[in-house]
Amino acid sequence: MTPSSPRAVTVRVPAKVNVQLAVGAARADGFHDLANVFLAVGLYDEVTAAPADTLTITCEGPDAGQVPLDRTNLAARAAELLAARHGIEPRVHLHIAKDIPVAGGMAGGSADGAGALLACDALWGTGASREELLDICAELGSDVPFSLVGGAALGTGRGERLTPLEAGGTFHWVFAVADGGLSTPAVYREFDRLTEGTDVPAPEASPALLDALRAGDAAALAKALSNDLQPAALSLFPSLAATLEAGTKAGALAALVSGSGPTTAFLAADRESADRIAEALPASGTCRAARVAAGPAPGATVTG
Ligand code: C5P
Repeated sequence: MTPSSPRAVTVRVPAKVNVQLAVGAARADGFHDLANVFLAVGLYDEVTAAPADTLTITCEGPDAGQVPLDRTNLAARAAELLAARHGIEPRVHLHIAKDIPVAGGMAGGSADGAGALLACDALWGTGASREELLDICAELGSDVPFSLVGGAALGTGRGERLTPLEAGGTFHWVFAVADGGLSTPAVYREFDRLTEGTDVPAPEASPALLDALRAGDAAALAKALSNDLQPAALSLFPSLAATLEAGTKAGALAALVSGSGPTTAFLAADRESADRIAEALPASGTCRAARVAAGPAPGATVTG
């Protein structure tokens, strides 16, 4: 073991909320063109890569039982892709400390993919460039490049082509964790069903929303939030309407489904208001738990 190949590397990766998710019509490849305004928020998974004889994954956390520990886990696929590109075997034990809601529309799986990639690169000393890492992230999934980069960004294409955005202040959020999950492909299929026969416009980022983000103006951002997947998520998970209403009643500036759901996101005026909303939501009986988090948060970072 040389100093450049440490015994274990830990990477911390944030969750995300989509402050705007504009969805175009289905493309020939089945994906949808997006104008996807991502904001990273301070809820984190940690991925630790340690030397091992073969690729293995373990997971801890309240929802660890719902995380696949086989090769379908994006963390495993990240290790395999990086190893294959560098002609080495993916000999690594990946341990995920999971705090991001599972199958919740907060990019928890993508976070683990980005985290594993960065951790393996450091562990194996593969020295991949930022460009190569982003390339592998895009191969892993549409949201994975943003998990690596963090902050605020506009994702176009299927969401993987990123342009960094300026966020002029801290936004305070509450996330209501639903009882159950939603499959992203199923939500997109429902979007296709609901929009069948209609003219779906080309997705575009809202200038008012980008202004609000740049100004750090929560009230203006609240007015501009939008998610084209929300009707599809509500159609598949109708009880989310009651959660959105409960958070609004508790004082949220705005409420929306996070990505493909079923996590719902509530923008608060400040931290105190967020704490009050987070107390009221579980008490309303319309969600399993509520979490407070602020954004923007930094992207995947080596912490040890
Ligand atoms: O890219 P990712 O693997 O995360 O996408 C998961 C699924 O979500 C895709 O298989 C597709 O059904 C849907 N999707 C889409 N358009 C996008 C991103 C995802 O239809 N831009």
